[in-house]
Amino acid sequence: MFIFAAMANEANNFAEIISHCKEYGYIFQSSELYDGLAAVYDYGQMGAQLKKNIRDAWWKSMTQLHENIVGIDAAIFMHPIVWKASGHVDSFSDPMIDNKDSNKRYRVDHLIEGHVEQLAVDKEALGKEILANMDALLAANDYTGLKKLIEDNNIKCSISKTCNWTDIREFNLMFNTKIGSVTDEADTIYLRPETAQGIFVNFLNVQKSGRMKIPFGIAQTGKAFRNEIVARQFIFRMREFEQMEMQFFVRPGSQKKWFDYWKDERKKWHESIGIPAEKLRFHDHIKLAHYADMALDIEFEFPFGWKELEGIHSRTDFDLTQHASFSKKKIQYFDNDLNEEGKPYGNYTPYVVETSVGLDRLFLTILSLAYQNETWIKEDGTEDSRVVLKIPAKLAPTKLAILPLLKKDGLPETAKELMNECKQSFHCFYEEKDAIGKRYRRMDAIGTPFCVTIDHQTKEDNTVTIRYRDDMRQERIAVSEVRKLVEGMIK
Ligand code: GAP
Repeated sequence: MFIFAAMANEANNFAEIISHCKEYGYIFQSSELYDGLAAVYDYGQMGAQLKKNIRDAWWKSMTQLHENIVGIDAAIFMHPIVWKASGHVDSFSDPMIDNKDSNKRYRVDHLIEGHVEQLAVDKEALGKEILANMDALLAANDYTGLKKLIEDNNIKCSISKTCNWTDIREFNLMFNTKIGSVTDEADTIYLRPETAQGIFVNFLNVQKSGRMKIPFGIAQTGKAFRNEIVARQFIFRMREFEQMEMQFFVRPGSQKKWFDYWKDERKKWHESIGIPAEKLRFHDHIKLAHYADMALDIEFEFPFGWKELEGIHSRTDFDLTQHASFSKKKIQYFDNDLNEEGKPYGNYTPYVVETSVGLDRLFLTILSLAYQNETWIKEDGTEDSRVVLKIPAKLAPTKLAILPLLKKDGLPETAKELMNECKQSFHCFYEEKDAIGKRYRRMDAIGTPFCVTIDHQTKEDNTVTIRYRDDMRQERIAVSEVRKLVEGMIK
């Protein structure tokens, strides 16, 4: 018996999390062999599985638990006119500013926010004032005013340490390439900056083939690409990332009701996958995107501050109307139910409420909550410690580690039998090397919620020791109970 006394390191050192991700196969810098590619990351053997589990949980909640939401998988490449119609060619840009001495380019809001974050504690009021001014100037597209705000507050470039700035200009965030095998025939094509447009252009296909009745939703997960100029904070802001989006088609005039509904529903969902309510908050948009009449972010308190995790947008009928106009095809819905309600029935362009969450950001959320550096005093008075990933069991990449105490006496054979049984239901990990304590620590570090040890007693009475990652409790259970017990805990 030991006395469990100490707790997690609250600071959750971000640099430690990043190096832990690399050491234990969660996330690697892309093309690391060639010194890496900025703001692009690869998911390793543990990370890919965790990412899949998060994606699956979202997909299930949307398409299985909501009877009126279906899922699709549209291609990344789309007709170039899609992006003209959606407004992305003309409006999907961020205001940027360059420092003339270092030639470093900054997104204006990031530059100002970074400055405010570094202000002394007694300058909190000033920080709030600067941010409020920034929001108002951004909303008014007042770039002269924004440059003056930067200069008046003596906001400097982190490299040159000077305040020698260019004028503020807009830069489009879309990547483009050429399609076609012969150069002459090649045409410009964009890498999609959001998955949503694949849903809008398929609205009629899905509605008609699935006989969908409004209100209904179309969900999709997939890669999106943005040429983010200031790329920072690990997988928080990447140039290639994954979105999980759902467009909910509603009657015109009912968008406020559904906006409020999805606002609550999405926050509840985040809580259901283990994110504490006090680490989530809403942030209403002051400057609305070109397509929205209401918008908010669900923010999470990341180790580097409160930041956007998910966006909820009321996109009106903007996208469907634009696609109808550019394609010269009718995109409307015939609402027979209005007739039954005694109202004149007819065709209309549905309004859309969108929920859009970044899978990578959600991954970072789960990981930054899970990473804990624990110390405690043992019964003999000495200190012990561990690094543990307390990933919720239902999301953990590996659910169960099966560990024969020794590599002999038939223990590996019994362990393999259990492995063969359990791997039919969930991911298991088999390990017979090293002392058992060391193996437990490694399973803690990769976030495996349950370990089962097979020892000599197992041969006598068919029981095993099960160890619970979060409190390191151990108990003996029948080997025949293991599969059922773990299945119950990961539901
Ligand atoms: N379809 C609407 C849309 O794309 P957004 O607010 O630009 O809206 C939605 O993006 C979500 O996608 C964000 O809340 C964020 O989680 C994720 N996201 C956006 N840009 C990202 C980036 N560069 N890297 C990682 N995730 C990003």
